[in-house]
Amino acid sequence: MRILFVTSEIYPLIKTGGLADVSGALPAALASLGIDVKVLVPGYPAVLSRLDDVKVITHLPDALLLEGSMPNTRVPVIAIEHHDYFSREGNPYLDKSGCDWPDNAARFGHLSKIAARIASKDSPIGWMPDIVHCNDWQSGLAPAFMHFSGSKAKSVLTIHNIAFQGNFPPDWVERIGLPMSAYTMHGAEFHGHLSFLKAGLFYSNAITTVSPTYAMEIQTPEMGCGMEGLLSHRKHDVHGILNGIDPEEWNPGTDPYLPDHYDASRLEGKLGVKRALQARLGLEQNDGAPLFGIVSRLTYQKGLDLVHACAQGFVDQGAQLAVLGSGDHEFERAFLDLAKRCPGQCAASIGYDEALAHQIMAGSDIFLMPSRFEPCGLNQMYGMRYGTPPVVRKTGGLADSVTDNETGFMFEHTSADALYRTISRAIASYRDKTDFGRIMKNGMEQDFGWTNSAKSYVELYASLMS
Ligand code: ADP
Ligand code: GLC
Repeated sequence: MRILFVTSEIYPLIKTGGLADVSGALPAALASLGIDVKVLVPGYPAVLSRLDDVKVITHLPDALLLEGSMPNTRVPVIAIEHHDYFSREGNPYLDKSGCDWPDNAARFGHLSKIAARIASKDSPIGWMPDIVHCNDWQSGLAPAFMHFSGSKAKSVLTIHNIAFQGNFPPDWVERIGLPMSAYTMHGAEFHGHLSFLKAGLFYSNAITTVSPTYAMEIQTPEMGCGMEGLLSHRKHDVHGILNGIDPEEWNPGTDPYLPDHYDASRLEGKLGVKRALQARLGLEQNDGAPLFGIVSRLTYQKGLDLVHACAQGFVDQGAQLAVLGSGDHEFERAFLDLAKRCPGQCAASIGYDEALAHQIMAGSDIFLMPSRFEPCGLNQMYGMRYGTPPVVRKTGGLADSVTDNETGFMFEHTSADALYRTISRAIASYRDKTDFGRIMKNGMEQDFGWTNSAKSYVELYASLMS
């Protein structure tokens, strides 16, 4: 079985969020099940400089294809070198001011087109996949290009977040090289725009998303972001497969970013990490203060306005808060202000910091993730693995991975009040060492590895091939 896994980010080469973690770990899990898998990514500078053993494999008129291997897992990666599209530093989607790159349609249309070319009978690399596994809107046009070029390979599109759709003005249809016949309601057209995501949902052979609950939610008008009609029409082709986590990358027993190590049977090291975190962030050195952690993109999705609204209340209960994130400037400012107002109790670090993310995951007592919607969410799983039970809202993958009062604390209604009550419940549990110890231990003993989910993908691929 040959799989081409197409993605716009992959950890540890380039990452903005959970998609990178999945793209780093799932192909490796597939490879360990004996699958012949290659990953296709844009050749951003970070990708080209971090891949091992890179060599040019073919010159195309509109790109250079290089092949290398992942520095950690040895999974083969094909990188598309294209000077105008991909040779820029920084965020793969945004310029320095936080706006989308104006040529994103051309850039990711190109990624999709190259994927389809590799899936054609004249594959330029002499290797043709049975399945092209696309991820999010950035590779959403690949199934459309495959359809129009008569590719024999099958396509799967995984939705990591239906709120990001890649919708562009219609003149891009021809500029990207799609036939105008694709631009209809039964195709890539979406409210007068060319939609990369809709094209993928329409033309792919199967659709997956990253948790069973989110697979149901996106078929409703409340959460389908306009795609619910198409998704419920295709409901037999929609599958929810919960993401796993990389248990080596996220292991409190060996994590190189931590000053101290621990596991479920030897928890003492966790206190050492908490003390170091409090010192690093300028929080009061207080072992007994329940320390809440947040590591997140700071966007409306993540419900952090609810945290901000009730922060004073839980600080008054003696709790501390450590926030790491970046995103909407309004949220960044709000958390910086909060930190200024509550010195020693609240700390805000704005930016992207892999080491600090691991330290907050391990050094906090409780992790906060009150998302309005959450396709899967990885941080709540990292939290459980690190003995840092999460407070989550009952939605998407949070509902599928956390059990209230067993591995974390859950609430349903999106309000600061409901969150505050749940945070208070978590603080009460924290102060009762036996109860909190039970919840920590339950979480640390969960198996969130990729093996089962990778097997579900293999079953899906096999069903498409037969
Ligand atoms: P999403 O993909 O919606 O952002 P996930 O929970 O699936 O949410 O994954 C987020 C990933 O990004 C996690 O690995 C998390 O640790 C990481 N992350 C998010 N923000 C930051 C940050 N500011 N610094 C470091 N890592 C971050
Ligand atoms: C998206 C989602 C997140 C999910 C991640 C990986 O970024 O917002 O919930 O965990 O993709 O699938």
